[in-house]
Amino acid sequence: MKQAIQINKHMYWVGVHDFNCRHFHGNMFPIEEGTTYNAYLIIDKEITVIDTVEAEFMDIMLERIHSVIGDQKVDNIIVQHAEPDHSGGFMRFMNEYPNAKPYASNAGVQIMLKQYFKDYEYHKVKTLDEISTGDFTLTFIEMPLIHWPDNMMTYVKEAHVLFSNDAFGQHIAGYDLYDDKCGLTKCLAKAKEYYANIVMPYSDRVEKKLNDIAALQLPIQMIAPSHGIIWRTYIKELLEAYMDFATMKAENKVVIVYESIWKHTQDMAEALAEGIGQSGVSVKVFKESQTSGALIMSELLDAKALLVGSGCYNNEPASNISGFLSKLSTCHIKGKKALGFGSYGWFRNTTAQINERLSACGFELLSDQILAQNYTPSTDDLANLTKLGTEIANIIKSED
Ligand SMILES: Cc1cc2nc3c(=O)[nH]c(=O)nc-3n(C[C@H](O)[C@H](O)[C@H](O)COP(=O)(O)O)c2cc1C
Ligand SMILES: [Fe+2]
Ligand SMILES: [Fe+2]
Repeated sequence: MKQAIQINKHMYWVGVHDFNCRHFHGNMFPIEEGTTYNAYLIIDKEITVIDTVEAEFMDIMLERIHSVIGDQKVDNIIVQHAEPDHSGGFMRFMNEYPNAKPYASNAGVQIMLKQYFKDYEYHKVKTLDEISTGDFTLTFIEMPLIHWPDNMMTYVKEAHVLFSNDAFGQHIAGYDLYDDKCGLTKCLAKAKEYYANIVMPYSDRVEKKLNDIAALQLPIQMIAPSHGIIWRTYIKELLEAYMDFATMKAENKVVIVYESIWKHTQDMAEALAEGIGQSGVSVKVFKESQTSGALIMSELLDAKALLVGSGCYNNEPASNISGFLSKLSTCHIKGKKALGFGSYGWFRNTTAQINERLSACGFELLSDQILAQNYTPSTDDLANLTKLGTEIANIIKSED
């Protein structure tokens, strides 16, 4: 029998572990240690549940609820987000607790109807709407398009708890439910990875929403997201880090992402890296096909520049590099520089195409040079690339 985990005097974690999840959002976000789908139970005069979990794990969530309330009924169910990782178990929940009143944002109601084809007489709520459950007041804060139209958070003012849904989440799976148990470094790294791979395209909205929340001056003792650990000790550090993510604040770092069959483009990448790294600027070099896309996005979030290389294959960059450029085009990149490079045989234009695509993604080009290498780079070619790497490092350092 699975038990709930108490998180304060009147509230419980009733979520589930998905220990085997290695690909979140299809293959868009490879993860290492699984994740959790967090749901919460608030015991008051009225009993409230915040979110459900993926449908296949719903038995476990119901067991955890029963472990606290036995045969009592749930009065309210808050649907903070209709994405199936948090709403998949909703119909099952309503079968179990048919008198529970469901609350969702207007967009949430529309999506729930489109996904589950059944109207549960939802109560629509909007930002700063409140409901009382007895001693507790639940205040709703919508966060449209961070990252779906319907996401919202729920703040419990008497307990100073913010149920933040996908915001501030991370893919960490375990029973160490809190940031201080898991360690600040790991928690922030995982929050950054989550941000870079899910939230980055919505950064302008995140920046605005963080300012809106700060203006509300809510005392917050706990931030309880819908994935991973609960923040209670490092809230200040988390909020500062999130503002850095939202503004894409960058370090003196260059990320090089390339694909190469016969290693010519790889030699170019490594010659560029030599010049950058030897000049005191941090450099990360990733062969795209050998690297977790999640790691690349995470490293890119706080890099000042990106170099993208590909050999020319059938008059195109490698298909995974094209896919990477497509992903970048959704990210609304701010304040970063970039440059393409690569080796070709008989069609010189792929490097120029990469540059064009990088410009269209919002990167400022580091140079007007076209780094297109015909077949094998000579010793002199590589020395020139290393020299260019030094120049790139100097540009990066001059921005401090
Ligand atoms: C499958 C394949 C298709 C290729 N198609 C083209 C092409 O359409 N145009 C071109 O200029 N070179 C083409 N090439 C030649 C490569 O661009 C050239 O060998 C280059 O040096 C490869 O870089 P790499 O060593 O980084 O893979 C092709 C090579 C391969 C292996
Ligand atoms: Fe989501
Ligand atoms: Fe989620």
